[in-house]
Amino acid sequence: MIALENAYVQYGQANVLSAVSIQAAQDEIIAIIGRNGAGKSTTLKTMIGLLPLQQGRRHFLGQDISRLPVEQISRLGVALVPDSRRIFPNLSVMENLRIGGLGHKPGYWDIARVLDIFPRLQERIHFGGDQLSGGEQQMLSIARALLGNPKILLLDEPTEGLAPLIVNNLIDIFTLVHQQGTGIVLVEQNLKVPMRLAHRQYVLDHGAVAWSGTSAELEAQREHVEAIITTGAAHAA
Ligand SMILES: Nc1ncnc2c1ncn2[C@@H]1O[C@H](COP(=O)(O)OP(=O)(O)OP(=O)(O)O)[C@@H](O)[C@H]1O
Ligand SMILES: [Mg+2]
Repeated sequence: MIALENAYVQYGQANVLSAVSIQAAQDEIIAIIGRNGAGKSTTLKTMIGLLPLQQGRRHFLGQDISRLPVEQISRLGVALVPDSRRIFPNLSVMENLRIGGLGHKPGYWDIARVLDIFPRLQERIHFGGDQLSGGEQQMLSIARALLGNPKILLLDEPTEGLAPLIVNNLIDIFTLVHQQGTGIVLVEQNLKVPMRLAHRQYVLDHGAVAWSGTSAELEAQREHVEAIITTGAAHAA
């Protein structure tokens, strides 16, 4: 449903993605895994149109969206939860949610339903964005993205720095979101969460796909894949 095909992306003169081909269907959870600087965030930003393609194509729902700007791509049903979370610190939880729902397509997810899956946010509904813990900010950021009723949700390191209990909670929520019919592209630095959640995985190394496969294939080649992630494709080969 969403795909990058032979994508090349640059920051200035520097090539950051080279020949990246990644696709995710709406009934899938895929993971993109790689260490610091591998090009994971760049890949998500390219998918949603925040960064232009130097070469290659991007597709969504069978349509070539290589030249569409981010506003139009997000209107088609792609949402990004950035690693920075981008909560409005001076607005309450409720105000953050209301802003998230503005101008978006109605659908399964509304404020009542997101508060239902994030009872913590319900308890903190009048708190300011700046009074939330890291985990609560992540929940709010995800809740806000869901209010747009996206067809596909791009998650940039959603579990980074969070306590195991909250990580487990988020895994349950991603499973539920997926069951409701939203595709998920999950970015993480290691295999832990992807192995519990994703159907297929891509490993990025130096801006290129160094390994890809199903969860069963990952299980069988785990040590090799771990080596690619920690030491790079050249050393692991
Ligand atoms: N705005 C930018 N201008 C120039 N170079 C950048 C910019 N953003 C990222 N880069 C470089 O592009 C490469 C890929 O960065 P990217 O943020 O996609 O990596 P990442 O896999 O998301 O890393 P992390 O795990 O640290 O989030 C890195 O070498 C990084 O230094
Ligand atoms: Mg990143």
